[in-house]
Amino acid sequence: MPQDDHRYLSGFRNYFETEAEPGALPVGRNSPQRCPYDLYAEQFSGTAFTAPRNQNLRSWLYRIQPSVVQQPFEPVELGHLQAPTQGRPDPNQMRWSPMPFPEAPTDFIEGLFAVAGNGDLHAQAGCGVYLYAANRSMDGRYFYSADGEWLIVPQDGGLEIATEMGIVDVRPGEIALIPRGLKYQVRLAGEHARGYICENYGAFFRIPDLGPIGANGLANQRDFLAPVAAYEQERGDFQLVAKFCGNLWAAGIDHSPLDVVAWHGNYHPCKYDLARFNTINTVSFDHPDPSIFTVLTAPTDTPGTANVDFVIFPPRWMVAEDTFRPPYFHRNVMSEFMGLIHGAYDAKAEGFEPGGASLHNCMTPHGPDTETFEKASTMPLEPVYQGDTLAFMFESRYVFLPTEQAVEADFRQRDYIDVWQGLEAKFDRNRR
Ligand SMILES: [Fe+2]
Repeated sequence: MPQDDHRYLSGFRNYFETEAEPGALPVGRNSPQRCPYDLYAEQFSGTAFTAPRNQNLRSWLYRIQPSVVQQPFEPVELGHLQAPTQGRPDPNQMRWSPMPFPEAPTDFIEGLFAVAGNGDLHAQAGCGVYLYAANRSMDGRYFYSADGEWLIVPQDGGLEIATEMGIVDVRPGEIALIPRGLKYQVRLAGEHARGYICENYGAFFRIPDLGPIGANGLANQRDFLAPVAAYEQERGDFQLVAKFCGNLWAAGIDHSPLDVVAWHGNYHPCKYDLARFNTINTVSFDHPDPSIFTVLTAPTDTPGTANVDFVIFPPRWMVAEDTFRPPYFHRNVMSEFMGLIHGAYDAKAEGFEPGGASLHNCMTPHGPDTETFEKASTMPLEPVYQGDTLAFMFESRYVFLPTEQAVEADFRQRDYIDVWQGLEAKFDRNRR
């Protein structure tokens, strides 16, 4: 199906109906004795059947062959995907340069690199963090994760994510949210692609409540886009890769599993352009905590304490009076994994590069580096538009355990802590 033919449906986890052939959706029932066009009906559930209605996520797929038509799964090793919750706790500040692009032909799955994880995927708590770097499209290979939904954050190069439920195009500056269990194939829009992934084991991401902000602001529902139905009818010697309990499994399949002709429901992929984020910050002094930049939150049973939040630091005006404007020094109970999509991040003079990453775990101190502190303490406080910047954070109540391959990686900056060592003791009790 040509790329230009698809469109999107607007709304965050709205209830949608879409069909790629007229009349493919049964009328008035989900599973009629015989479906239109002799399609097979298959329910795709994201929540338990009995989840409360306002949290219940499920869709009905009308497909050419049901998902049971495949060969048995066998364990397979592809890329550098380790079960990310098997890492070793480490209280040190960590930072990585951008992961190099591969030289050998590498698709999205082969190019996955587990960096860190937390919680327990078996207990549906915590998340896994991956980098990806690829230089070819998945060809004859399809993928799903049974472990959690995937939040994909492209940093370099666009992706065409062809899913069972339609095609999701994303470029750097946009994000894709792929439901747990959804099958898809990632094709590259250009020569290569690189980015970040948060695999969320907990409650599904949602847009946060706004409290005193009111009915509008931050990420608005209408800016989330779900794809219309699009299907393939292809036969061949294909491979279906599943991520299941932290490991990869592969099964032969003689047809494209992207064969859903119509679907309805509220469990579906979507994308969101981070430029649509309505950024809110001070117009007087100080700055709010970074939670003001929350795009998506995966809550836990403890109010206000997230399994994982997705937070961005987008282009914005800095206008605060008599204020140290970059992020302050801090030690948090929450653990923070950060990445940079483009530009510069205002707490670091250098070293935190687009495509790079940092990890500051529970109670690990961090904040502006020496150069940034000196500059921000003395600069004239004119309104400044910080335009070329787009950093993000996966922030979690659970300590991130970096994987061994991430700790040992050539692209880890082992001297990261040096950026703060120039912060001298200037206190003099005789000088105020
Ligand atoms: Fe922080």
